Amino acid sequence: MTKQDIKKKINDLRLELNKHNYSYYVKSQPTISDYDYDMLINELINLEKENPEFFDSNSPSQRVGNDINVEFKQIKHKYQMLSLGNTYSKQEIIDFDNRVRKTIGDNFEYVCELKFDGTSISITYINGKLHHAVTRGDGVVGDDVTSNVKTIKSIPLKLHGADYPDELEVRGEIIIPLKAFKRLNEDRIEIGEAPFANPRNAASGSLKIQKSSIAARRPLDCYLYYVLGKGLKFDNHYDNIQNAKNWGLKISENYKLCKNIDEIIEFIEYWDKERKNLDYDIDGIVLKVNSIEQQENLGYTAKSPRWAIAYKFKAERVATKLYSIDYQVGRTGVITPVANLEPVQLGGTTVKRASLHNADIIKNLDIRINDTVFVEKGGEIIPKIVGIDINKRTSESKALIYIDKCPECNTELIRSEGEAHHFCSNEFGCPPQIKGKIEHFISRKAMNIDSLGQETIDLLFKNNLINNVADLYDLKIEQLIPLERMGQKSASNIIKSIDESKKAPFRKIIYALGIRFVGEIAAKTLAKNFNSIDSIENASIEQLIDVDEIGEKIAGSIKKFFNNEINHIVIERLKNKGLQFEISKEEQNKASDKLAGLSIIISGTFKNHSRDELKLLIEEHGGKNVSSISKNTNYMLAGDKIGPSKLDKVKKFGIPIINEDDFIKMIEKKEE
Ligand code: IVH
Repeated sequence: MTKQDIKKKINDLRLELNKHNYSYYVKSQPTISDYDYDMLINELINLEKENPEFFDSNSPSQRVGNDINVEFKQIKHKYQMLSLGNTYSKQEIIDFDNRVRKTIGDNFEYVCELKFDGTSISITYINGKLHHAVTRGDGVVGDDVTSNVKTIKSIPLKLHGADYPDELEVRGEIIIPLKAFKRLNEDRIEIGEAPFANPRNAASGSLKIQKSSIAARRPLDCYLYYVLGKGLKFDNHYDNIQNAKNWGLKISENYKLCKNIDEIIEFIEYWDKERKNLDYDIDGIVLKVNSIEQQENLGYTAKSPRWAIAYKFKAERVATKLYSIDYQVGRTGVITPVANLEPVQLGGTTVKRASLHNADIIKNLDIRINDTVFVEKGGEIIPKIVGIDINKRTSESKALIYIDKCPECNTELIRSEGEAHHFCSNEFGCPPQIKGKIEHFISRKAMNIDSLGQETIDLLFKNNLINNVADLYDLKIEQLIPLERMGQKSASNIIKSIDESKKAPFRKIIYALGIRFVGEIAAKTLAKNFNSIDSIENASIEQLIDVDEIGEKIAGSIKKFFNNEINHIVIERLKNKGLQFEISKEEQNKASDKLAGLSIIISGTFKNHSRDELKLLIEEHGGKNVSSISKNTNYMLAGDKIGPSKLDKVKKFGIPIINEDDFIKMIEKKEE
């Protein structure tokens, strides 16, 4: 292919991928299978890698994010980001309408729209290209979160069509859909991370992640609700926002023009019921005067426009009786109190149990057994107790004494400084922790031993056949057959799939070991960077942290894991059974070993390669790309525009600086 052909191919792929992204993420109508999409994006990534002169920061390939650690720059908003006056009362909506009528008369319309419950964002397009994206901040200046926003697939990197203003600002709300939120929290709990309290916190937390490659894995989505700019086509909000759909922007389908207060109240009441069927949280309705001229006549207070107001829904809340509290023990020993309630209808389902989170919440709300408590289902998927009805407290009410011993193994509970939860430290003797570890080990993302499930693990544990994951590999078919509900066939399936799991790759085993905070991605990174379980064990905290994606929390947890003698014994037994505790040749997939043992930091911008390409090259040749400078760093691969503080540090440690050409020579050099 000539360069001209390649350029055309790259452009065609970008156009095609953008089209599929738009159909999938904005219109929710997929036009291609996931597999075919992956094929196209890989083809594009490869072509871009081989032809770096065609790099474009708005190519769909850039949506994967990168590993650069950013401290957010502050950007001043061109137009201040105001908030909205809000109310829970329909009377105050009527008062608002009267005030508006006094100023602009009766000849106008309102636009009614959903009030999305996420975190607000302002995105600026210059000549149709996404230029920057900024959080609300204090309304005057916000954080530059462009690199994270670019990973959100429903936000176009280039606007469709051609009739957009040269400079266009769009504002909207970044959200996490409810189903995706549930999965995200399940994954976090799985590796011992604290779950997010609600989708809003998860969305704003994700937007502030310092590495966009990690933000890219969060299921963020965005609805836009406001367009600003000189030379907009229409003189009213409704038409401008509908027109923004033509530029590929994701706009909700749920807008309504209303002429009077009755229509507004009808819209509010409709959505107060209907919101439970949405896959994202809304916390109210926003009404806006439609005409831009009339908006300007109404003007602004210091904080908010006089032409708009938010009506907020009251969270659904019911009163019911608290019977008792159970204490659950998780895989990592964390204790969670759960309330048993008199069954009550809430948001279309019967609620019998509610989360109480931790001892402090119980104490602060002064919750006692037999109290009448208020239960709410807000953004959270599990209902929670938000208070008590003190007027209904009777002599039957009994003070609640939080447990100090594990309900399962009677071990004294620990509560560390600054931790919200009590914790059972009897890691190897507490039944739910033992079974939880084994369940994690066999799970689909770990060793995938699908002939075993929670019930069988219970059964095997009850019969003293397993007490840790290594015991699985000692099981004999004769031991299984006599067990209840177990036939010859299922027994032989179990033995067969346990045996097959010995072939699972090294990265799966690292994940399966259940080291706290080590999720699938961290496990993969550890496998790739250290090659064997022994090297992971022997790595110092500093060497671990030097690896991208591994922070202090994970490194500390790895050290703690290997400092435990029982973990050693289990690993030794698993090794003897033939599990893969080293990376295989295929997985290693190295181009050469020329950089083996070398830690290289990349800094600045480069002429011929993107930073991601350089990172990949370092890894392919056996080196390690590190993100911070230490005395263990062997080289700095330096481009243009390196920060002075970085240069000082490199000089202080006497680290040699190499440029792009030197680096390429290093990896191209013939073996002597
Ligand atoms: S309009 C001047 N419309 O609610 C116009 N805001 O305090 C200001 N929000 O920070 C915003 N859905 O993050 C508007 N349909 C909607 C909205 C909405 C959610 C958020 C926004 C803002 C807060 C209001």
